[in-house]
Amino acid sequence: MIELLLIGMATGNPEHLTLQAINAIKRADLIIIPRKGDEKSDLADVRRSICAKFLSSTEQVIEFDLPKRDDATGNYFDGVSDWHDAIAATWATLIKQHRPGGGGTIALLVWGDPSLYDSSMRIAERLSNFDLEPNVTVVPGITSLQLLTAAHAIPLNTVGGAVQLTTGRRLRDEGWPDGVDSVAVFLDGGCAFTTLSSDNVYIYWGAYLGMPQEIYRAGLVADVGANIVAMRAEARAQHGWIMDVYLLRRLTKVDVADAV
Ligand SMILES: C[S@@+](CC[C@H](N)C(=O)[O-])C[C@H]1O[C@@H](n2cnc3c(N)ncnc32)[C@H](O)[C@@H]1O
Repeated sequence: MIELLLIGMATGNPEHLTLQAINAIKRADLIIIPRKGDEKSDLADVRRSICAKFLSSTEQVIEFDLPKRDDATGNYFDGVSDWHDAIAATWATLIKQHRPGGGGTIALLVWGDPSLYDSSMRIAERLSNFDLEPNVTVVPGITSLQLLTAAHAIPLNTVGGAVQLTTGRRLRDEGWPDGVDSVAVFLDGGCAFTTLSSDNVYIYWGAYLGMPQEIYRAGLVADVGANIVAMRAEARAQHGWIMDVYLLRRLTKVDVADAV
């Protein structure tokens, strides 16, 4: 029986790995690292350096080219589903090539935590289409959202308040979600916070969190929004890629008076 370890690796700082994650890396018979193309080569480098740091030999580490998502597929969800099938097929081929006996422990280092805007668990389920039914073990990791709230030294929620996790695409298309005073926004390539009309929204923004290039900024969107857009563009040009996340908080009139 194959054990598939999905190891939350936080976002690159080895000090953010849990002991459970380090022990899981050490006990894996095979670790597979995705290469996502030049633009995000830093992320493969982060995985390589974590393996090099915690393993005495990296013989059991292999790399593969992550299939690309076909953005031309009309329906977004169909495109993602096809992409997951392609990744599962690639994982299955690698597992069969490198674990021909059908046993052993295979590990993937998952960015942040595997439960948050990550499809490793969904892809693992699709391995059954390739006659593989591994036992999946999830090792939790520190998320980019936790690193964001830590960087700004803020609680995620207000007292008794609800938080919505969403994407830049949804915030832009659907606006502020009902019933929440805090919204955490992931996967936003286009600064969707600039589309909010309200002048009482505070933003806590961060990019490259947990990495040496980490930057962050906070303030009323009306005051710092344009500056964040400029910082983001400059950082992206400098590093060739960017990952950023932000928490939006709708303030009361009293809060706004305190914030300005
Ligand atoms: C595919 S999701 C993966 C999230 C990850 N599983 C986690 O636990 O944070 C990628 C998105 O997470 C956020 N993200 C991941 N790493 C980040 C980092 N180091 N700094 C800022 N945002 C990050 C960005 O919004 C990015 O678009």
